Amino acid sequence: MGVANSSFINACYRRNTGQIPIWIMRQAGRYLPEYQEVRDKVSFQELCQSPKLIAKVAEQPIKRFDLDAAILFSDIMTMLEPMGIDVSFPDGGPKIANPISTIADVRRMTPINPVNDLSNVLDGIKEIKKILPDIPLIGFAGSPFTLACYLIEGQGSKTFNSAKKFLHQSPDVAEELFDFLAEEIASYLRTQIEAGAEVVQLFESWGGILSHDDFAHWVIRPINKIFGQLSDLKIPRILFVNNVAPYFDLINELDNEVIGIDYRTRLNQAMTALPNKSVQGNLDPTVLFGTPEHVREKTLKILDSLESYDRLIFNLGHGILPETPLESVRVLVETVHNYRN
Ligand code: CP3
Repeated sequence: MGVANSSFINACYRRNTGQIPIWIMRQAGRYLPEYQEVRDKVSFQELCQSPKLIAKVAEQPIKRFDLDAAILFSDIMTMLEPMGIDVSFPDGGPKIANPISTIADVRRMTPINPVNDLSNVLDGIKEIKKILPDIPLIGFAGSPFTLACYLIEGQGSKTFNSAKKFLHQSPDVAEELFDFLAEEIASYLRTQIEAGAEVVQLFESWGGILSHDDFAHWVIRPINKIFGQLSDLKIPRILFVNNVAPYFDLINELDNEVIGIDYRTRLNQAMTALPNKSVQGNLDPTVLFGTPEHVREKTLKILDSLESYDRLIFNLGHGILPETPLESVRVLVETVHNYRN
């Protein structure tokens, strides 16, 4: 079939008349025993630095399930390391030893040249394309706000209140930080495409905690800059926002193709609210802990609620959780693929 005419790429452009495509956020990860086996031997960061291992784990979910896209195996934090940010993953989640708080901190961050500074990731993309030439490959980065949350807070948080306060206490520092991150993200995503990725996804994991006004300023504005800088590449640009519904009016104005919808929102409402976008989502990842019949029912409930399928990419409404039963994933993929042949 070829990547350009795959159901996934066609769905990104709102023109898929075949099977509904599906991939799963965090599809390469700890719920897979074969991933655990790799992780028994190397740390997460070692894994992210080895092109061969990147390709091996990116391929694992594709081997096991009939998924319609692969995603680069890396992390949103990886691009910060060559900028001089000291990132580690001591208890699973990211931790930053030198968080940002002043303009001097922002100016100390080194601009990166991804071809030199992130060559292992880009070589990982080339390795994945060698193994999976016919499966669309998604490259990705974190959004400026989501990266700023970790940079300012220094670690994960339930509220990211320090990051939110920072926007109001030090707007000029924040402005410079966001401009810097937007430039770096755009150039990094461009090199991912040049290395062989066919689609990009930005993860706005934390923007959903912002007021509507702040979302316009700190999410929409920098993301439009990033997407604008990629428009000449003519590749599908996906934005996933965790808690997207309050901002549908702003999202509609974005210059991009696909919006990832979190599990809180009715997918049919998202499709109505975003008439010119393809949508990607949005089964609640915890549904997969139910019986196979339950997984099938909940999946069909979403599918039955929709009026059109030409611009649908099925996915979970956030990343798949560790310990998810493998049989549930199989049932999910089968249910989506059998829905419209
Ligand atoms: O399969 C894929 O989707 C590709 C790989 C991928 C990872 N992280 C691997 C990973 C992707 C796309 C990400 C994105 C990412 N990383 C996000 C955005 C997505 C989201 O969940 O909203 C965020 C916020 C991060 C930061 C991060 N990295 C966290 C919070 C954690 C720990 C907690 C968790 O959910 O796993 C990581 C570590 C991480 N990144 C793991 C994996 C497979 C687990 C590492 C391990 O093997 O121990």
